[in-house]
Amino acid sequence: MKSKVLVTGANGQLGKTIKEISSNYIESITFVFVEKSELDITKKDEVDRFFKLNDFDYCINCAAYTNVDLAETEIEIALDANANAVKHLALSSKTYDVTLIHISTDYVFDGTNTRPYKEDDTTNPINQYGETKLLGEQYIKENLEDYFIIRTSWLYSKFNKNFVKTIFNKLKTDEKLTIITSQQGTPTSCLDLSNFIVFLIKNTIKNYGVYHFSARGNTTWYGLGAHISAYLNKTTNVSPIEDYPSKAKRPQYSVLDNQKVETLTNKPLKNWEESVDEVLKSLSQH
Ligand SMILES: NC(=O)c1ccc[n+]([C@@H]2O[C@H](COP(=O)([O-])OP(=O)(O)OC[C@H]3O[C@@H](n4cnc5c(N)ncnc54)[C@H](OP(=O)(O)O)[C@@H]3O)[C@@H](O)[C@H]2O)c1
Repeated sequence: MKSKVLVTGANGQLGKTIKEISSNYIESITFVFVEKSELDITKKDEVDRFFKLNDFDYCINCAAYTNVDLAETEIEIALDANANAVKHLALSSKTYDVTLIHISTDYVFDGTNTRPYKEDDTTNPINQYGETKLLGEQYIKENLEDYFIIRTSWLYSKFNKNFVKTIFNKLKTDEKLTIITSQQGTPTSCLDLSNFIVFLIKNTIKNYGVYHFSARGNTTWYGLGAHISAYLNKTTNVSPIEDYPSKAKRPQYSVLDNQKVETLTNKPLKNWEESVDEVLKSLSQH
């Protein structure tokens, strides 16, 4: 049976990546992609009407307020998109028997761990973005049983604006860059994450709950920048700095433990370097 899948926030980098791979699944999945202009998930009645009109099996929520620094001052807007709207999606999913696949973040943790974060580790966000995303998670858990909450970290892709693309483009024009070493985390390719999401749908996985999905290994933003510079033979363009001031605090350590995902898929995840190289290769061809 073909699954009908709604993808919200389709104009974001994850939404665009899912759209790109969707053509591989036309036989088994009917995707419906909606951008914010077509479905603003903060509008409860519109969300409900949309779910009522369509017979969705899944909703992949790629919509979010993702500007971590601006969220410190635009708290209400962030709260609306990352928490209240997620509640609307959860309630409509419940009413119309839809499985919700929601994307959350490593920023629900405070970064004081000294080993990778497991799904049931204590959350304790240290910025507004993390607070709002955690509240979104809680609304899902309170209102729904058939859900996947996938926490991921440091997303990048060939689409839109992200760290990998920005560094790549700056190095291409021979800029000299100073990048921070203070945070440890794992860059995650939207393509790898999209493939995992499709895996859940294609295999009608019923092991609902929270999952941590990133690549394997970890690095710092400087380490990631240095990797990109090595790819472009521009290692002398990048130098480390401990930290820069920013509006929002960020966890010093937000590495995610991927054991649960690897057990589910029965497959090791890719190392972050391998996945970054795939995107760098694709950026080089444009
Ligand atoms: N980026 C990361 O490093 C990272 C790390 C961990 C987790 N995540 C999570 O991963 C998910 C995907 O992130 P991403 O990087 O693909 O984000 P993104 O590129 O910023 O895309 C988010 C999309 O959501 C849309 N949107 C915002 N408010 C909306 C609303 N009220 N209704 C409908 N759409 C709305 C945005 O539209 P406009 O641009 O028009 O506002 C944008 O197209 C998010 O849940 C994010 O929290 C991201």
